[in-house]
Amino acid sequence: MGRFNDKVALVTGAASGIGRATALRFAADGADVVGFDSNADGLDQVALAAAQSGASMTTLVGDVGIRNDCMTAIENTVLEHGQLDVLANVAGIAWAEHVSDVTEEGWNRMMGVNVSGAFWFSQAALPHLVSSHGNLVNVASNAGLMGQAYTVAYSTSKGAVINMTRALAMEYAKEPVRINAVAPGGVDSPMSRDFQMPDDLDYALMQRYIGFRPMADPTEVANVIAFVASDEASRMHGAIVTVDGGLTAG
Ligand SMILES: NC(=O)c1ccc[n+]([C@@H]2O[C@H](COP(=O)([O-])OP(=O)(O)OC[C@H]3O[C@@H](n4cnc5c(N)ncnc54)[C@H](O)[C@@H]3O)[C@@H](O)[C@H]2O)c1
Repeated sequence: MGRFNDKVALVTGAASGIGRATALRFAADGADVVGFDSNADGLDQVALAAAQSGASMTTLVGDVGIRNDCMTAIENTVLEHGQLDVLANVAGIAWAEHVSDVTEEGWNRMMGVNVSGAFWFSQAALPHLVSSHGNLVNVASNAGLMGQAYTVAYSTSKGAVINMTRALAMEYAKEPVRINAVAPGGVDSPMSRDFQMPDDLDYALMQRYIGFRPMADPTEVANVIAFVASDEASRMHGAIVTVDGGLTAG
């Protein structure tokens, strides 16, 4: 018996990196997984990988930055599966730049995807998660827990995800639902592999958030997301769980 047998788990950002690993983790643990992403080809590949291992995964293409896409995804998931037990808000974007280079469009896009996307999905999912005594897991970042040079928009967005998690946890403190966040440090994913830093950066300012250990594999974060959403973590509510190899420890 898998930990998530008879459970329905919706994972955003499921086409790549941590979201992909999370979708496959839930699927391997018995869940009916719904993978949501804007990358249709990537989603198809993950669904194929799930099917090849005998697991169950369906896909929904959409943009977490568009409220209607988020609401419709939850609605369609519940229509098709009859319930929702886990929402993992993993989709996100990141880039680096000097403060002076932040544009209105870039700032709004960062907030629209990383903050609003997680919120609209949460807002739509919470009534169903309360019904199922389910779990909401947001993916934040070490960048939301520490001031990080050259990523002011990203750090702001992830700080918002952390306090959104706490605010939701408080508002639903008396309801049968658990709401937590996982805050990874560096993870070896397409996001970090494609990450461009400004040419003229001051490396002394970066040392603080590079840490001493190699980057995590996406599965190492996915395992913690699944644990937090499982009955083994039944006492966890409103927690921000770091998965960063000690980066934010000191
Ligand atoms: N990689 C890291 O080092 C790291 C560290 C800390 C936190 N995180 C966070 O983990 C999460 C996953 O990151 P990752 O490393 O797996 O990145 P990734 O780029 O490999 O995957 C992100 C996924 O989100 C999807 N996505 C992006 N914008 C979207 C949108 N508007 N609508 C729908 N889907 C969208 C992408 O298509 C992609 O499949 C993000 O929230 C990121 O901020 C990553």
